Amino acid sequence: MKTRITHVHARRIWDSRGRPTVEVDVTLQDGSKGTGMAPAGASRGSREALELRDGGELLNGLDVSQAVSQVNQVIAPSLVGMDALDQSQADHMLIELDGTPNKSRLGANSMIATSLAIAQAAAVSQGQALWQYLSQGQAVRLPLPQIQIFGGGAHAGRRVDIQDFLVMPIGAQSFDEALVMVANVYHAAGQLMASQGKRHGVADEGGWWPDFSSNEEALQTLTRSIEQAGYRHDQVAIALDVAASEFGQGGRYTLGLDQHVYSTDEWLAVLLRWLNTYPILSVEDPFAEDDTAGMQAFTKHVGQRIQVIGDDYLVTRVDLIDAAVRDGACNAVLLKPNQVGTLSETRSAMLAARQHGFGMVVSARSGETEDTAISHIATGWNVGQLKVGSFTRSERMAKWNECLRIEESLGKNTSYAGKHGLKLAL
Ligand code: PGA
Ligand code: ZN
Repeated sequence: MKTRITHVHARRIWDSRGRPTVEVDVTLQDGSKGTGMAPAGASRGSREALELRDGGELLNGLDVSQAVSQVNQVIAPSLVGMDALDQSQADHMLIELDGTPNKSRLGANSMIATSLAIAQAAAVSQGQALWQYLSQGQAVRLPLPQIQIFGGGAHAGRRVDIQDFLVMPIGAQSFDEALVMVANVYHAAGQLMASQGKRHGVADEGGWWPDFSSNEEALQTLTRSIEQAGYRHDQVAIALDVAASEFGQGGRYTLGLDQHVYSTDEWLAVLLRWLNTYPILSVEDPFAEDDTAGMQAFTKHVGQRIQVIGDDYLVTRVDLIDAAVRDGACNAVLLKPNQVGTLSETRSAMLAARQHGFGMVVSARSGETEDTAISHIATGWNVGQLKVGSFTRSERMAKWNECLRIEESLGKNTSYAGKHGLKLAL
């Protein structure tokens, strides 16, 4: 069998924050080779699959020598001989081998790097790009990008409480044009910050450092940046990742910058006022992962007209997506492959979301690598949206640029999701 796995090898590499992470190479009988790399989050949901780190003193406990040896000593001997074209069988083997509910034995970092490397090698063996291999012949679309202009929260020393202030080029006609629009807004925002003496570099995902005196000032500045770049609200809209689990618990939301503690109801009122004041079309994790009542109230109020995404709230898990459908707690899901540990489980989450009519956003992590697999996943599975962080730093640009290459390779058959990437009647 030409697609039989013959070699699996892991090594330690370094992510965009200069922290250790896992890279895995998978080689097949016919010489095809695939590589997968594990990203790493900073504002993680408590129900995410576990990232295996060494602990101890060295490298602040963040080294991954155990995760690397799990691949080389435990995973490799079991994978060798399996057919790389049977992704679900290979992923199932990883899940069985791990045998824990949260991937704590093998580690989600070793597992996702391995799982992605298998898919890459399989695509190479078929002479296909990864997006094409993953599409299984179904129609594909380039995703609507969500691109960060200001970074905040855990990615900017909590300088502001809200984590991501992003834009969505809903009015573009192609992915290529979408990036032109975002570039114009990004640089307009930089000029605006500079003119106020507030341009102080970038945060973890490459968005401008948020030197604002309130969270709302970031929204005002973003709205002005879009206008100064010459765009209307039906061309470029705003998305927020509140990442509320970082400052909310037990129905209390403590905003450091605004020096105010809100109840769930009061925080809801603040968010609703923002939605009525600024051109926001998508909000991620508006309430904390333990606040189902808050998520439900928010979705009930605005779920007809804006996208309400669960990230920490859903952690790419089918059971949590099903529960959110029942509860009416959101209407869209963030899909982060390393949050759940394998490509097949990510796909199951995608299929559950699609079945329920949920919006979908494939997403990177704040700690990233040069791996561009998520650009292929978002396109090949036709999910509609992709979130990778900002518009600087090459671990981000590698993903956006890869989408340009995919768009070009599609030639006349190309299609950009644009506003239809959002499951809203716009
Ligand atoms: P993380 O954040 O990668 O630091 O967890 C990304 C997000 O919340 O979307
Ligand atoms: Zn998030």
